[in-house]
Amino acid sequence: MNGIADPGLIAARGAPRDGGPQSGRLDLHGVGKRFALEGRPVTAIEGVSLNIAAGEFVAIVGASGCGKSTLLRLLAGLDPDYDGEVLHDDMPVRGTRSSCSLVFQDHRLFPWLTLLENVELALTRTGLSRDERRRRATSQLDRVGLHAYQNAYPQQVSGGMSQRAAIARALVGRPDVLLLDEPFGALDALTRLKMQRELLHLWQQERTTIVIVTHDIDEAIYLADRVVVLDSQPGRVAQIATVDLERPRRREDARYGALRAELLAHFLAPQDR
Ligand SMILES: Nc1ncnc2c1ncn2[C@@H]1O[C@H](COP(=O)(O)OP(=O)(O)OP(=O)(O)O)[C@@H](O)[C@H]1O
Ligand SMILES: [Mg+2]
Repeated sequence: MNGIADPGLIAARGAPRDGGPQSGRLDLHGVGKRFALEGRPVTAIEGVSLNIAAGEFVAIVGASGCGKSTLLRLLAGLDPDYDGEVLHDDMPVRGTRSSCSLVFQDHRLFPWLTLLENVELALTRTGLSRDERRRRATSQLDRVGLHAYQNAYPQQVSGGMSQRAAIARALVGRPDVLLLDEPFGALDALTRLKMQRELLHLWQQERTTIVIVTHDIDEAIYLADRVVVLDSQPGRVAQIATVDLERPRRREDARYGALRAELLAHFLAPQDR
């Protein structure tokens, strides 16, 4: 299925009567990317075709080196040199743009700026007044639960809090697409579960299209409308699984387990599943 799996959720997200967000659609047609490594060509991804609806939550999983980050970088416009077509709301992606933000595994906040200043910085070239930039940055930090820490420096807060600030920085310019590359990969297991719940909540509020890359199949099933499995060398779409489970999802649900087993079958021999 193409789109948001749970109609009840669309209502919960306050979608307009005509059925959902109007912008934030991503379309990939036959996308490929080759690198040269010590003079030898390396095909990172090949023939990737995928249509992501506005407001959809998609997870990309696959073995290390299969091209997940490469794909996300192409969507972000960080690498304009690719084969095929990458479209954001029907416009070819050839560079970075304010309507699309990317969050990495490490928060990449500036250590010499407070959390508030880091978030505010993302609004520098918007033409907004200083007061308005501050107001929006404060409000976005509130939305990720960092109200009390806006004047702290990144090194004074936990890894989870820094990552929340990085997500606030990515969202403060109101992008219609949020790309996340292993955003919780450096966090401990319990913080990770908490951050997953929070991300879902943010998505339900902000109605942004989200594409998350993760190694964690459980995380992918918990969060996404669809899970895209990439094969390795070269990275190709092996399977697209629709997660037709109402939210919030329960990991102990038998259907959750069945989907986990189905996706794991791509990666593990039967005795290791
Ligand atoms: N700048 C580059 N120059 C040369 N080869 C690259 C470059 N970036 C990526 N590659 C190659 O492209 C392939 C895919 O890399 P990519 O980083 O996209 O994988 P990944 O799925 O994100 O892996 P991981 O899960 O470990 O983060 C790998 O073979 C990698 O060596
Ligand atoms: Mg990667």
